[in-house]
Amino acid sequence: MTDAGLFLTFEGVEGGGKTTQMRLLVERLRGLGYTVVENYEPGGTEIGRQIRRIVLWAANQNLSPTAELLLFFASRAQAVDEVILPALAKGCIVISDRFTDSTLVYQGYARGLGRDVVLALDKVACRGLAPRLTLCLDLDIELGLHRARARNAEDAHEETRLDDESLQFHKRVREAYHDLSRREPERVKLIDAGRRPEAVAECIWRLVEPLLPRL
Ligand SMILES: Nc1ncnc2c1ncn2[C@@H]1O[C@H](COP(=O)(O)OP(=O)(O)OP(=O)(O)O)[C@@H](O)[C@H]1O
Ligand SMILES: [Mg+2]
Repeated sequence: MTDAGLFLTFEGVEGGGKTTQMRLLVERLRGLGYTVVENYEPGGTEIGRQIRRIVLWAANQNLSPTAELLLFFASRAQAVDEVILPALAKGCIVISDRFTDSTLVYQGYARGLGRDVVLALDKVACRGLAPRLTLCLDLDIELGLHRARARNAEDAHEETRLDDESLQFHKRVREAYHDLSRREPERVKLIDAGRRPEAVAECIWRLVEPLLPRL
């Protein structure tokens, strides 16, 4: 946590509505006059976008789990230095579409690399920066994958390497998010994402509003 600014993250299973809800929240905050800086993972910076091509490109099926882990942290470290810390220092609200919790659940839990190795790398890449609030969109994974695949079919997406993982893998991801929210209930809020987008947005707003700095 930092003294200035407010750092929020969106997390959750594939197709849960992270990007949709983040857009709605950013618009609402900007409408009230807040300065909001957006980050997304992997990516968020020019260097991060180059890394994103490697980690999400469907053809890279032989990317080793350790290389994948380090690439996610490389992208994150770049965003922390280039975008997130400078914006927080200026008192902005920074919102990230995925952050270290994603690496914890995908690589640490679902790929079995373990929590400790992920948290050790987090210390190097993020240097103590942690979200004040994490909005975790929770949804039946088959429904989430159905939503994500319908969207990808429309966009002719090639970033499907992780979406293409087995159902079992995605079930482990969802369970891992539940575990994170049990460990850190004050920070990681599970939100029922099976409802209409407006209802989900209202639930998110009720959690965010009390944390907003005075304008
Ligand atoms: N509450 C909702 N009800 C029905 N459809 C939704 C809802 N929220 C989002 N969608 C639709 O589901 C699809 C996936 O949403 P979105 O891209 O926001 O999810 P995501 O969590 O960002 O996915 P990914 O993990 O792939 O980045 C989109 O086509 C979006 O329009
Ligand atoms: Mg998204």
